[in-house]
Amino acid sequence: MKGLQGKNVLVTGASTGIGRAIALRFAQEGANVAINYYNSADEAAETLESVQKTCGSIRDCGVGDLVVQADVSKEEDVAKMFQTVIEAWGRLDILVNNAGIQKEAPSHELEANSFDKIIGINLRGAYLCSREALRHFLSRDGGGSILNVSSVHEIIPRPEYLSYSISKGGMGNLTRTLALEYANKGIRVNGIGPGATATPINDWAERPEEEQQVASHIPMGRVGEAEEMAAAAAFLSSDEAAYITGQTLYIDGGLTLYADFRENWSA
Ligand code: NAI
Repeated sequence: MKGLQGKNVLVTGASTGIGRAIALRFAQEGANVAINYYNSADEAAETLESVQKTCGSIRDCGVGDLVVQADVSKEEDVAKMFQTVIEAWGRLDILVNNAGIQKEAPSHELEANSFDKIIGINLRGAYLCSREALRHFLSRDGGGSILNVSSVHEIIPRPEYLSYSISKGGMGNLTRTLALEYANKGIRVNGIGPGATATPINDWAERPEEEQQVASHIPMGRVGEAEEMAAAAAFLSSDEAAYITGQTLYIDGGLTLYADFRENWSA
């Protein structure tokens, strides 16, 4: 893809799933990739192992790799992460806000701590990282690009996932507001809205019969692959998309098309 060769990219939450696939796709396109990961104490070993594996695959593409540990919801962690990347490479061109979590709970039982945690990582984290990226983009020539990994739940309400729905709805306005605010500064801000994708965030990804049940709700009859999300992320961050800003592209097998309208209700 045009314009990704030699660029420096930071992907948050890149040790697994969609973030990992995005990091690898950028490396395949010739970009140097910094991988952010966050390990909670209980999953430390597993996370570090998957980070090392991803770095190995990035190096196999003949580009630079960098590992930056940070909790994206923490302001000081985010500042340190950007400082590390910019000191190492002198310049950052593309930020991918991918880190995200979800938790199921009926809304009337949802605990405030859980609400704060999900909004903190999914939305505050994207804002904190975007702010650092914007400050850097504005400090030098050449603009830059921010790509937000949102969700179909940017526009589809998701009962029992209130904080997740709110975080992704908010991310849509983060994309559009920043895109408008910085359009005349050579900075583009876009999003992708994945549908159901087989990654560790979804319990069903481990269980084929449950995956089938999920797939039955999707017009194209199957769940998505992380690599399909990564292809769109690379496109929107590349010069092929030089005139696109403020858009969320849904990659969802038709999930946002109101599947119930496939057949005539009144027949
Ligand atoms: P995942 O669970 O594999 O990836 C989430 C990543 O975020 C993990 O690597 C995790 O370590 C990282 N993370 C969690 N808390 C963090 C923190 N405080 N700081 C830094 N990193 C942190 O799941 P997946 O599916 O790859 O999710 C990536 C993004 O895609 C998320 O934003 C998610 O909401 C979004 N998405 C996923 C869909 C799916 O069906 N898999 C559908 C729609 C959106």
